[in-house]
Amino acid sequence: MMQATGLHAYYEKSHILQGASLMVEDGEVVCLLGRNGVGKSTTLKSIMGLVKLASGAVFFNGNNITNLPPHYIARLGFGYVPEERRIFPTISVKENLLMGIKHALPATCPRSGSPWTLERVYEFFPLLGEREVQRAGTLSGGEQQMLCTGRALMGNPSVLLIDEPTEGLAPAIVAQVEGILRAVHHDGTAILLVDQTMGLALSLGSRFYVMSKGSIVFSGNAVELMENDQVRKRYLEL
Ligand SMILES: Nc1ncnc2c1ncn2[C@@H]1O[C@H](COP(=O)(O)OP(=O)(O)OP(=O)(O)O)[C@@H](O)[C@H]1O
Ligand SMILES: [Mg+2]
Repeated sequence: MMQATGLHAYYEKSHILQGASLMVEDGEVVCLLGRNGVGKSTTLKSIMGLVKLASGAVFFNGNNITNLPPHYIARLGFGYVPEERRIFPTISVKENLLMGIKHALPATCPRSGSPWTLERVYEFFPLLGEREVQRAGTLSGGEQQMLCTGRALMGNPSVLLIDEPTEGLAPAIVAQVEGILRAVHHDGTAILLVDQTMGLALSLGSRFYVMSKGSIVFSGNAVELMENDQVRKRYLEL
């Protein structure tokens, strides 16, 4: 469904992505792991067209989408929840969610689940329903995370790229985020998840990539990752 090959990207002169390749099949949950600063967020940004690729290519349902404008990539069926959880603080929760509605391009492959509506987002995130009229800037960190995810879902993505959704959240909220991502997956949406919480990644992911210095140093399933002490010690454990 989504295939990224040989990605190279720079910030000024720093060579950040150094040939990373990864793919996400229809409806699967793929986790991108690695220590701080290895290029995980940059990988998601380059797929979304937010960071220009110097070389390499991104394909989506067979179409080359490399370096297309981010709003166009979103309309093809990508949902993106950035690490910084960008919400519009001065408008209400509901208005933030409505801003996530996208007019899908005709070429898009529709996903299998039912379309997202405000009501459906509120079913998934009752808290957002209760706070519908509240200004988004007054939400807690965990609530803002939910709002960002809900807004991405409002665009009916067939693949959700989500960057560290549990960063800085209390364990109870982490469990909630896990439940939501599981439900989104069961609804037929593929997920590319970046998260440092191994427990969450292992419980949700069917395939794993480990990144180091802008390239992929391991790919495999949960058993292969758990059995590979060398990769875990060298690239993951603190
Ligand atoms: N806008 C930018 N300008 C310059 N350098 C940047 C910029 N954004 C990120 N970098 C650098 O690029 C490298 C990769 O950053 P990136 O955010 O992709 O890492 P990451 O794997 O997501 O890390 P973390 O786990 O801390 O979120 C880091 O060294 C970072 O300092
Ligand atoms: Mg990051």
